[in-house]
Amino acid sequence: MSASGDRVVVRAPAKINLALRVGALDEHGYHDVVSVYQAVSLFEEVTASVPEGGAGLSVTVRGPGAAGVPLDGTNLAIRAARLLAERAGVPAEAALSIRKAAPVAGGMAGGSADAAAALLACDLLWGTGLTRDELVELGAELGSDVPFSLVGGTALGTGRGDRVTPVLGRGDYHWVLALATDGLSTPAVYAEHDRLQAGRPARELEPQVPADLAHALRSGDAARLGACLENDLQDAACSLRPELRRVLALGEDHGVLGSTVSGSGPTVALLVPDSSSALELAVALTASGVASDVRRVTGPAPGARQVEPVATSPHHPSQQSR
Ligand code: C5P
Repeated sequence: MSASGDRVVVRAPAKINLALRVGALDEHGYHDVVSVYQAVSLFEEVTASVPEGGAGLSVTVRGPGAAGVPLDGTNLAIRAARLLAERAGVPAEAALSIRKAAPVAGGMAGGSADAAAALLACDLLWGTGLTRDELVELGAELGSDVPFSLVGGTALGTGRGDRVTPVLGRGDYHWVLALATDGLSTPAVYAEHDRLQAGRPARELEPQVPADLAHALRSGDAARLGACLENDLQDAACSLRPELRRVLALGEDHGVLGSTVSGSGPTVALLVPDSSSALELAVALTASGVASDVRRVTGPAPGARQVEPVATSPHHPSQQSR
């Protein structure tokens, strides 16, 4: 057991994509992308504890959509813990408990955040002492969005989206997230993108933040940022889920600063000037029935970090929201 004690709690943020440009498909079935990520204040929480009695790895999941998350060896948090144990040469022994906040298969990298949080939590629990860069490298083996959840803030992702460089910027942005009941499969959305693009040459990508977006982020001007949100997967996501266009249209009617499908969807992120406009839009989205659920968040949020466990009480047997 490490200096961190027998229980470590880590929170890792979900993301939205301020820009997502999709280029050619590589020989491993991945697309070259240029992505500008922003971490938002929707946090996955992973608690890693020394297992009682039996050794090995186990996982429990609670929160919205928990029923859709596998509890076997394919669970991303389990895969993360196993990979870390292998590389660090320590026994893979931890009881992992995930509290979800991000939608499952929602285009917000909730599963990747679980993996990022599990990497850091097990590193602290086992005292393996990897650097953040080493954890980021391991994260890239688990999924394209895992490195960003470790880094947080606003960042450029290149390659598969997994080579992450922080982007300079200022300001806090207010987002309203329109959630859908059913997720979209990322491979299915990329496949639909390829189908829609068939016969056209792949987009040439410059591995840098698009110039208008870089200026907007440096100025901290939300209206400017709203005008340059872009996502090459949006048409594919809307083709598979046409009702997303109704969410985007409702946002426009309400005069949002900008809107975009996040990643491969189906979550839509709508940018508004302040918290009172966020509340108004959230009420309108809920009343219209075009979104199954709505969240108000801000970005940028920090990357995966340890938080204090909340004391266990007989009435509240596990960590509660703070
Ligand atoms: O890496 P991750 O597990 O997030 O990716 C899931 C799937 O999404 C990949 O197997 C691939 O089909 C698709 N993908 C892609 N290009 C990327 C990232 C993901 O085609 N840059």
